[in-house]
Amino acid sequence: MKYITFNQQKTSAIGIGTWHIGEGNQSRTESEMQAMRYGLDNGINTIDTAEMYGEGLSETLVGNVIKDYSRDNIQLISKFYPYHATPELIESSLKASLKRLQTDYLDLYLLHWRGDTPLQETVNGLEKMVQAGLIKNWGVSNFDLSDLEELDGLENGENCRINEDLYNVGSRGIEYSILPWQKKHNMSFIGYSPFGSDGGEYLKIKPVLNELAQQKHVTVHQLLLAWVLRNNDILSIPKTGSIEHMKDNIDALNINFTTDELALIELSYPAPKKDESLESI
Ligand SMILES: NC(=O)c1ccc[n+]([C@@H]2O[C@H](COP(=O)([O-])OP(=O)(O)OC[C@H]3O[C@@H](n4cnc5c(N)ncnc54)[C@H](OP(=O)(O)O)[C@@H]3O)[C@@H](O)[C@H]2O)c1
Repeated sequence: MKYITFNQQKTSAIGIGTWHIGEGNQSRTESEMQAMRYGLDNGINTIDTAEMYGEGLSETLVGNVIKDYSRDNIQLISKFYPYHATPELIESSLKASLKRLQTDYLDLYLLHWRGDTPLQETVNGLEKMVQAGLIKNWGVSNFDLSDLEELDGLENGENCRINEDLYNVGSRGIEYSILPWQKKHNMSFIGYSPFGSDGGEYLKIKPVLNELAQQKHVTVHQLLLAWVLRNNDILSIPKTGSIEHMKDNIDALNINFTTDELALIELSYPAPKKDESLESI
């Protein structure tokens, strides 16, 4: 396993994504649980979930898996809907998530995306949950640079530990100013949907990726994941319900790129040359 410093602690370079997990029939659920166990048994120590995923079904599945593990060894992240972002609703959402997850605290609790509640109210609610010992830290998701700057100017806004945005070879916008800003402010970054989510609708696989994967004797998915992790500075959270894919994703952490290979990828998937509006899925 490869480790990075994330949220000020030693963290596996990939976490376990859980969108759409726990929503299927019994055999699919069993396969998803096996894949998650395989990941945890082989060094992954972080899980990303949300109250939104299957309206609680994903958190329920995660709870059924992690109850057999030492809680202290897992960094558990969940998120609340923007329309639950007032102090009162944060508390009730959090308590419902903790119940489904069969735990008494979260390591990180994130605002899933920005809604209509004033950010200061949300920060106040999150700080209250830290003081109550129900969460260790908090963060945000789908925030762009102006959102991050606004948050940083609020009372206790600087306590935001992480921001989670879309990041894969076809969606590189965050490289231009969000990632540098977060590094400067000591705020960790989670990149979601390394494969462009389900079905490839959001990420076009161009020939360079197939050619390079063939040359390096890896799959295109492994190449995509290794590319996201190439600088050892972000956490990526691929989702899989398959034990074989989980193995492939862990093996992808051993893939390195030469400067020439990175330059070749760059030709088909150029880095941003200016600020772009934040993409999300
Ligand atoms: N904060 C946010 O707003 C936000 C938004 C989107 C996602 N997320 C988080 O990020 C996680 C990952 O994103 P995602 O679920 O959108 O998509 P993703 O991880 O980019 O892609 C998931 C798809 O890739 C397949 N896959 C995984 N490993 C594979 C492998 N080695 N070979 C071939 N196929 C493979 C999965 O199928 P199998 O299951 O069959 O392997 C699934 O169809 C989510 O689960 C969620 O936790 C957060």
